[in-house]
Amino acid sequence: MKKISIQDMPKHVGETVKIGAWLANKRSSGKIAFLQLRDGSGFVQGVVVKANVSEETFAAAKSISQESSLYVIGEVTEDTRSSFGYELQIQEIQVVSEAHDYPITPKEHGVEFLMDHRHIWLRSKKQHAIMVVRNEIIRATYEFFNGEGFKKVDPPILTGSAPEGTSELFHTKYFDQDAFLSQSGQLYLEAAAMALGKVFSFGPTFRAEKSKTRRHLIEFWMIEGEMAFYEHDESLEVQEQYVAYIVQSVLKNCKLELELLGRDTTKLENIQAPFPRISYDEAIELLHEKGFDDIQWGEDFGAPHETAIAEHYDKPVFITCYPVGIKPFYMQPHPERNDVVLCADLIAPEGYGEIIGGSERIYDYELMKQRIAEHGLDEEAYAWYLDLSKYGAVPHSGFGLGLERTVAWITGVEHVRETIPFPRLLNRIYP
Ligand code: 4AD
Ligand code: MG
Repeated sequence: MKKISIQDMPKHVGETVKIGAWLANKRSSGKIAFLQLRDGSGFVQGVVVKANVSEETFAAAKSISQESSLYVIGEVTEDTRSSFGYELQIQEIQVVSEAHDYPITPKEHGVEFLMDHRHIWLRSKKQHAIMVVRNEIIRATYEFFNGEGFKKVDPPILTGSAPEGTSELFHTKYFDQDAFLSQSGQLYLEAAAMALGKVFSFGPTFRAEKSKTRRHLIEFWMIEGEMAFYEHDESLEVQEQYVAYIVQSVLKNCKLELELLGRDTTKLENIQAPFPRISYDEAIELLHEKGFDDIQWGEDFGAPHETAIAEHYDKPVFITCYPVGIKPFYMQPHPERNDVVLCADLIAPEGYGEIIGGSERIYDYELMKQRIAEHGLDEEAYAWYLDLSKYGAVPHSGFGLGLERTVAWITGVEHVRETIPFPRLLNRIYP
């Protein structure tokens, strides 16, 4: 008999198959039991009819505890009432391991309780759906960049440089030297772009930010792109095509998950390039018109500001050309103004905030040296980076997309803590 996974059931209608699964939930009456089974690949209902099975199997169906592991043998049938479309008519149950009393029951639990049980909370339908969407975004990311001729490059995690400012660094020892956990692979990607042209990376990044909001993680995953001979506007085109690509891929390949999550997919269908662009200056004006008197030109936006700007659009919106004073050292100045730089943040709709930060990079040697000094960075640690503006420097641009914020937006989940398997938060490193 063939052992299959739940996701492959549509190919085996009418056949008797064996599936290794966990019992997610069950209900039974005198003569029939309905088992909600999950095997990681999907969820399906198994039906056990007393008259059709052995006494042992029916007794097992009635008594097994939630999250026990089983082998079930049965016939695959179509079932138009369920969104999955199939059911298993169970003939035999083999219990692999009977679960102790399972702490996560179908009733409501508090957030801290669920976070303490993250290692098993992941098994629930909603969490499973979010992880499937996350995986689809990662899959589509590789597909997009490979299709566009980018090479994947893996920047180091242990570094001696700090692209995004020195205040949020995790310090560690590198034998007897000081080192940091990577905030962004950008500087290394810039070096790689000079060797390979168009490059991308996907890796963990760390920010010792004392922020406790629904958008902040201490450890998060970033997808970064860097392109030699690309100017600011050309980079924005790559970004909008990339974001549209992942949204459309999720719509196409995660229908069941989006339905389970109750996501309004009409909002996602609309996410097609190009995306609107608004300058920082215009954004400040818009905020003042909307009555936000708390923000002045030169200050960075907070979450309420980003949300108010995003509300104006039904697609992600680029806010371009921020004041030089609130952005990192490496950003290329505007050609006609010395008070703003050639950069953009991409703000997601529906209040999910900034999902991409990017810019054109300085490639003038003297200016780069000056900025490193102005930012109080140790020139010696950046000597290798300065080499890039010495040997065949070219205009180049790049960006970083925060995976968890993107997952939150696409799934419609409120908080980034549910968008990564094991979130690292301000007060949490367990489990
Ligand atoms: O805007 P950021 O800081 O940009 C950079 O790190 C650039 N060096 C990227 C580049 O140009 N290659 O971070 C990029 C994105 C943000 O837009 C946001 O989506 C996400 O990373 N991000 C966070 N996500 C979760 N928790 C945090 N604490 C985050 N900080 C940034
Ligand atoms: Mg940013």
